[in-house]
Amino acid sequence: MITVGKGNETMTESGINILGLSGSTRKESYNTKLLMVALERAELKGARTTQLDLGTINLPFYDADLEGQSGLPDEVRNLKKQFEEADGLMIATPEYNGFFPGLLKNCFDWLTRRTGPEDPILSAFSGKVAGLMSATVGGSGGVRSLTSLTSQLHYLGVTVLPRPFSLIHAGKSFTNGGALPVENMNALDDMSAALLHALRKSD
Ligand SMILES: Cc1cc2nc3c(=O)[nH]c(=O)nc-3n(C[C@H](O)[C@H](O)[C@H](O)COP(=O)(O)O)c2cc1C
Repeated sequence: MITVGKGNETMTESGINILGLSGSTRKESYNTKLLMVALERAELKGARTTQLDLGTINLPFYDADLEGQSGLPDEVRNLKKQFEEADGLMIATPEYNGFFPGLLKNCFDWLTRRTGPEDPILSAFSGKVAGLMSATVGGSGGVRSLTSLTSQLHYLGVTVLPRPFSLIHAGKSFTNGGALPVENMNALDDMSAALLHALRKSD
């Protein structure tokens, strides 16, 4: 176990890789901001984190004809590799009409496709543990998007941490520097701790 220092904090290098993704590609997305805070909290606890930007990955809509003609696009293969290499996931999802957005669904659908018969079924998802969060401008906190996303991830074989994090009135919550009120930071710390704990146990 290596111990590395960062600023005033001492981090314990746990060797745990967390992949973070946001279900919004909006430039000023509250969910992306929330994800960034959550990943930072996980890093302070010793995780290695990578933030995926689905807006920069040119994923086509899933099309079986496209897959039949040319196999899995390179973007999907690369994405799949990143998922396979991750131990845990942090996902921040907007709520669109009471559901998690199509951007995430399309990404998951591609990720379930196999590169060939030697590629294990659901290799991008199996054994993963996920911490979920949602930011909404209104007062719902994305409870329906979190429920639908949880159901989707269970179907794919991902263990979802109980008690996802909801950020209500997101437009009023972030400081200019992207920070959140202390009670929100504490809740995100708790989620990071629970995720790392679950991943250490599943080693
Ligand atoms: C198509 C669409 C549907 C939406 N549906 C909901 C909804 O069902 N519940 C809700 O609380 N907010 C809803 N919203 C508002 C989003 O929560 C809000 O736009 C949020 O800021 C989007 O996340 P982002 O900031 O990460 O892009 C909807 C927004 C859009 C564009």
